[in-house]
Amino acid sequence: MPRTPSICHLIQWPEQSEASDTYSVIDPAHLKPVASVPDMDTPDVKQAISLAHTAQKHWARKTARERATVLHKWYQLCMHNQSDLAKIMTIECGKPLAESMGEVAYGSSFLRWFAEEASRAYGDVIPENAKGRRLLAIKQPVGVVAAITPWNFPNAMIARKVAPAIAAGCSIIVKPSAETPLSALAMAYLGEEAGLPPGVFNVVTASKGSAKRIGNEMTENALVRKITFTGSTAVGKLLSKQAASTMKKVSMELGGNAPFIVFDDADIDAAVTGCIASKFRNTGQTCVCANRVFVHSKIYDTFAAKLSAKIREMEVGHGLEPGNQFGPLITSDAFDKVVRHVEDAVGKGAKVLLGGKPHGLGGNFYEPTVLTGVTNEMLLAREETFGPVAGLIRFETESEVTKAANDTPFGLAAYFYTKDAGRIFRLSEALEYGIVGVNEGIVSTEVAPFGGIKESGLGREGSKYGMDDYMEIKYICIGGIKETLDA
Ligand code: SIN
Repeated sequence: MPRTPSICHLIQWPEQSEASDTYSVIDPAHLKPVASVPDMDTPDVKQAISLAHTAQKHWARKTARERATVLHKWYQLCMHNQSDLAKIMTIECGKPLAESMGEVAYGSSFLRWFAEEASRAYGDVIPENAKGRRLLAIKQPVGVVAAITPWNFPNAMIARKVAPAIAAGCSIIVKPSAETPLSALAMAYLGEEAGLPPGVFNVVTASKGSAKRIGNEMTENALVRKITFTGSTAVGKLLSKQAASTMKKVSMELGGNAPFIVFDDADIDAAVTGCIASKFRNTGQTCVCANRVFVHSKIYDTFAAKLSAKIREMEVGHGLEPGNQFGPLITSDAFDKVVRHVEDAVGKGAKVLLGGKPHGLGGNFYEPTVLTGVTNEMLLAREETFGPVAGLIRFETESEVTKAANDTPFGLAAYFYTKDAGRIFRLSEALEYGIVGVNEGIVSTEVAPFGGIKESGLGREGSKYGMDDYMEIKYICIGGIKETLDA
């Protein structure tokens, strides 16, 4: 029986699938397989694209209110199933359950937000430039969208792309990360329950080995009019280059190297709390994680001691066990990178205040770590560590720390703590980043624009701007209009 990319067919796989291969989804805490899913390849994506192309024409003809009704229902179903979605997420990505619950609520908030935004995709009536003419600018869906999403937010990064696409009248094919296909399939199942017609939201699961071929098809197939990606800068550059062959619209949410700056006038306890939230959320595996913690020399030792004391109280373990605040790293490659960064820092003179070694639980668990004496030359400060390691860098002046904070090709998120009102404005404007948190360690929300500058990417997700990336503006010039009544 021919397979469609409809979620029911995917979920009932293998009975209704043509894909002959499967691959295992691994729980990163136990390192044991928990499910197997189809390992799809180029013919599957081609078929999904073709069905999405047909479905999009019908979907775009629905009224904004009709599209919003489905998104609202989907939001309600996701929230109704919040704890199941959270368990699935924890099992495949290792995130502590409380964080997974939070992510499902966060992801679902995009479904609700863009349900509301669907009706507000206004165009313009432009004052005419000559008699006998009327000028309009209308917004139309770009068409078929392809999305490639990461494992660190298996639900929210899909919702943040799918919701605006669907609200705008696009159809979308998502290739979730090889590590976390189950959250994507569960979302799609609920989407279908909510009334999404077949072909509007499609999930293509694939192992790491097939991912490149799928990315090639998504970027080079002329029926796809937009590609949206969250992941590393290296892959984002490659996809952008490939997408140029058919001149697709692109949105890229790429790597970061966030500075987290604590001035000597800051509320130190609030800065410690913010630093833990920003640096250690998802065991340090977010693109907006603090990566370089700059602390003013006058408060350096106090801050370091308070930070270590608080982290020492936190528990490491399987995300499904209550009370654990740190899970494992996603893969052995991720684990190896953390080991390499800590060894490099210690080799160049950093001191271990806390942790600094693999956790006794083994596998991909690494001890939450605080290092002092970190400098800008260490790998920890040059690359995104993506792990539970806070490296503290000492600074003396505002101008020195601003220069150091901007000394990176990346520009996603930056944070600083101060009570000085003038500095709040000065520094917010001087930091070369798409997102700035002032006296806050977590700033993501569906109502505000998320995205980076420089090599951290292109486009904005969420907020009133979030649908723009899924729409084209068409200019319509109507001529030959007689200007006198009864003419
Ligand atoms: C990311 O890591 O890119 C997403 C983080 C967020 O949405 O807060």
